[in-house]
Amino acid sequence: MGQLNQRHILVAISGGIAAYKGAELVRLLKKQGARVRVVLSRGATEFITPLTMQALSGEPTHTELLDEAAEAGMGHIELARWADVMIIAPATADVIARLAQGRADDLLTTVALATPAPVAVAPAMNQQMWAHAATQENIQMLASRHIQIIGPDAGEQACGDVGPGRLLDPEAIVAAVNARFESRLLEGRRVVITAGPTLEAIDPVRYLSNHSSGKMGFALAGACAEAGAQVELISGPVHLDTPNRVTLHPVTSATEMCEQALALSAGADVFIGAAAVADYRPESASAEKIKKADGNPLILTLVENPDIIACVAQSSSRPYMVVGFAAETASLMDHAREKRQRKGLDMIIANDVSDPDTTFGSEQNAVHLITATEEQSLPLASKRVIAEQIVAAVAATLNR
Ligand code: C5P
Repeated sequence: MGQLNQRHILVAISGGIAAYKGAELVRLLKKQGARVRVVLSRGATEFITPLTMQALSGEPTHTELLDEAAEAGMGHIELARWADVMIIAPATADVIARLAQGRADDLLTTVALATPAPVAVAPAMNQQMWAHAATQENIQMLASRHIQIIGPDAGEQACGDVGPGRLLDPEAIVAAVNARFESRLLEGRRVVITAGPTLEAIDPVRYLSNHSSGKMGFALAGACAEAGAQVELISGPVHLDTPNRVTLHPVTSATEMCEQALALSAGADVFIGAAAVADYRPESASAEKIKKADGNPLILTLVENPDIIACVAQSSSRPYMVVGFAAETASLMDHAREKRQRKGLDMIIANDVSDPDTTFGSEQNAVHLITATEEQSLPLASKRVIAEQIVAAVAATLNR
């Protein structure tokens, strides 16, 4: 599996003769393990049907911006946020011009404007249209906004002309999108990440825990591995697939997590504490199942767990960078700033868990990155996109 496994890929097809190649593109992306949703422009529906794309993607096809039924299913903003990457292929001269102007006059351009995910554009048009100064200026403008331009290819065209303007082969488009995710920002670095909840045993059948899903920590592990790092992921019990090229160290309790964290982080470049560590554990777990006490209250004595990230930050073999999370329900920024200083962290990622969009278990997040000298807000996006932005910020600090 490549970089696209489990990614949410939004394929937007505009109305050119190459639209039929969009079907092959979707098939190849699915083969790589991606989840694919398709947006067809009105022109594209003249060349390829929504039903074809629905059958190939296994998801409903999206065609209209202001369609009651479609908006009730997954509205354009939700679609934009769902995406980990948006690929516009084929992108006609008209779509490229509208993207350059930032127009939002159909579903395709609106989603392109609304998505926080990276956008890639694979142009396809007649060679004369491609060579025109207007198209070239529009393409330059898109590239300057970090939109990935894939192709075009040169050769024989549907209209009989020969020259540059053909849609690149779907295999080459997939390879280019894959390459983009291999950013190599953390090449040669070793990163240790904690994720998920910890379970603190009360007796052989009961435990204390929390609602952490592990999604943010696993997304970070995947993003760090894609950026070229060697990744050790220490996780409490979760129901998630381990990302490619990540070594998983499963643990149950905070005590076990702490032991692994200290052992693995010695000499590492980066430590990221994304785990929701239980602050307390029962003083001693009962060897036998505790029986009900006939209406009397059950008293448990809880003792404090070690603060894992603070121990890592204070250890003699401290990683260059220690990054923590602050999941708060009130006074987010103040609590996070205080926590960063108290725990001796280089960066803290503040996360409002009172908001249903960004709470435990959600697919998306919106966070604030806080260092001693800088603060940066990352607006609502998929946890994968947020993870990539965090990796970019960590790499920038490391390389400074
Ligand atoms: O104090 P609080 O739990 O809010 O701090 C959150 C940060 O500290 C997270 O990065 C979390 O992984 C880490 N932490 C830890 N060990 C604990 C408690 C929190 O590593 N016992």
